[in-house]
Amino acid sequence: MSEYIVDIEHLVKKFGSLTAVNDISLGIKKGEIFGLLGPNGAGKSTTINMLLGLLKPTSGKVIVDGIDMQKDPAAARNNIGVVTQETVVEPELTAEQNLMVFGRLYHIPESELPKDIEFALQLSDLVPFRHAYAGTFSGGMKRRLETAKSLMHAPQLILLDEPTTGLDIQNRTKIWNLLRDINKKDNITILLTTQYLEEADQLCNRIGIIDHGKLIALGTPSELREKIGMTSVIEIAAEKEDLQKVAAEFEKIGLEPNVLSNKVVAPAGSNATKKIETLLKALSAARIKIHNVSMHEPTIDDVFLKLTGSEVRDATGEFSGRAGAMMRGGR
Ligand SMILES: Nc1ncnc2c1ncn2[C@@H]1O[C@H](COP(=O)(O)OP(=O)(O)OP(=O)(O)O)[C@@H](O)[C@H]1O
Ligand SMILES: [Mg+2]
Repeated sequence: MSEYIVDIEHLVKKFGSLTAVNDISLGIKKGEIFGLLGPNGAGKSTTINMLLGLLKPTSGKVIVDGIDMQKDPAAARNNIGVVTQETVVEPELTAEQNLMVFGRLYHIPESELPKDIEFALQLSDLVPFRHAYAGTFSGGMKRRLETAKSLMHAPQLILLDEPTTGLDIQNRTKIWNLLRDINKKDNITILLTTQYLEEADQLCNRIGIIDHGKLIALGTPSELREKIGMTSVIEIAAEKEDLQKVAAEFEKIGLEPNVLSNKVVAPAGSNATKKIETLLKALSAARIKIHNVSMHEPTIDDVFLKLTGSEVRDATGEFSGRAGAMMRGGR
């Protein structure tokens, strides 16, 4: 038996001239929590939909627990629980009724159903709301109900497409705990997509970073942190014409600066505070006017900057920082 529950081989999906998924090969290990991290339009949902057999690959293969998704989608899907990017709870049904309908859809025997529903309600922390209509639930509650629902037919693998996007931190944490619980308790493999670096970092055993349909990095959070230098990030904002001089000072103390439209940014490495002090002294001596100095935990923008040299695109496909300013003609 392979150590992988999902085996993705040279997966490609083209929509006309657009290559949404571009030759991804990846194995998801049994029992791990794997995060596919990428910005809007990176190809996450397209990948997930091919893993589910909902979308036919242009080329390449998906094997789920030894079964070729293209050859026998029904059998391959049998092992998978799914939470899609759009919420699909029925608003006119109560939490309990939602679970019941789903359980029947998956042919859970009537004798087992009450126990499974109870378990799902407990898991999703929705016991007090069992008789409330799902339409009245907050985004986080809907998401939890869906996640619990996807587990009712006891799948070995659960796929979640951006389970926490748009949720507040409290709901996000609840979903994380729910996923950790089921992963630990039943050794269920979890594959989720996310736009949040923090989520991938805190929740996942391994992370794959995807951009423009390509897998651009793969490893454990600590491997990636090391590779990408995901330490704190130093930012110094200054006049446009001074930015190169600022960058030169970064280089003098061994940092690798990126020059953006109005600031210079670099992973800090160790002794960040000391480095900022040194930089400020040098810049002041050179009479360079500084607009702002800051240090922050790395975000997905920093990771992308480091990996691809460009900033994360926003939902419209425009570039947010330097490139966007250039494309919009100026500042
Ligand atoms: N059915 C389709 N027809 C044409 N293009 C598509 C289709 N589905 C997706 N795309 C394009 O493929 C690319 C990848 O889209 P995908 O939905 O996989 O991204 P994503 O990583 O899930 O993004 P998001 O975080 O916004 O959900 C995008 O450029 C998107 O516009
Ligand atoms: Mg998506």
